[in-house]
Amino acid sequence: SFISEIKGITKLEDILTKRLGIKKIVIIPSSIDECPACSIDMAKAAGRYFFSIMREHKVIGITGGTTMHSFAENLPQMKTEMPLTIVPARGGLGEEVEIQANNIAAMVSKKLNGHYVLLHVPDNIDKDIMESITSIPQVKSTLEAIDEIDLLVFGIGNASDMAKRRKSSDKECMVIKERGAVSEAFGHYFNIDGEIVYETSTVGIKLDKYKALNDIIGIAGGKKKAEAILSIARINRNLVLITDESAANYLMEIT
Ligand code: BG6
Repeated sequence: SFISEIKGITKLEDILTKRLGIKKIVIIPSSIDECPACSIDMAKAAGRYFFSIMREHKVIGITGGTTMHSFAENLPQMKTEMPLTIVPARGGLGEEVEIQANNIAAMVSKKLNGHYVLLHVPDNIDKDIMESITSIPQVKSTLEAIDEIDLLVFGIGNASDMAKRRKSSDKECMVIKERGAVSEAFGHYFNIDGEIVYETSTVGIKLDKYKALNDIIGIAGGKKKAEAILSIARINRNLVLITDESAANYLMEIT
């Protein structure tokens, strides 16, 4: 019955929260592997949790990706103005413009009637050029806003899928693989223990900043992302994870 299904999910949430040792887990009662359209439910669940805590915050960091795009799209439109600044957490990362953090930050800001800043920094440029770009006042002020992030909402990727999607060179893909990367988040690649093994050459949120955050909402589902989720859960235990049944069931097997 519906009630026992709810009870089952709640129990699964409790057990997994303890096993991963994180703040909270919300599992939607469907599998996005079997029902890709159900990812909307995951996005909406993330939105509900986000709404429950956003008023305690000032600067909201947002990453890119298809999951974050769905999160933004499914946020309800606020009628009143929210005193929030929405910032992209990282630079371009070589994605299509629709799913870049800049675009998603602007989308979220429109839904909340907030204020947004953008980060215009290309990927894969030389270190010295990067240094000159980051001294441009507009870029500098966005980087300062990134330092002020007090709530981060982000997607979690499977490392090899993300390396391919970002059209990383064969050499880069090999290095990422050889170093045992299983997850990717905000341009950083991590191994199963949550240790950083590779970083994309762009500016934005730093790992130390992520580690120091009290409020972080990670949204990721599907069996293929279960290991990635486990790895990310080990970096900062304040994580609130919004996921689906297929990732949750596989996490039960591997933890
Ligand atoms: C990226 C984010 O843009 O999207 C990453 O910076 C994340 O944090 C990735 O790994 C996930 O993408 P998707 O499309 O699977 O949600």
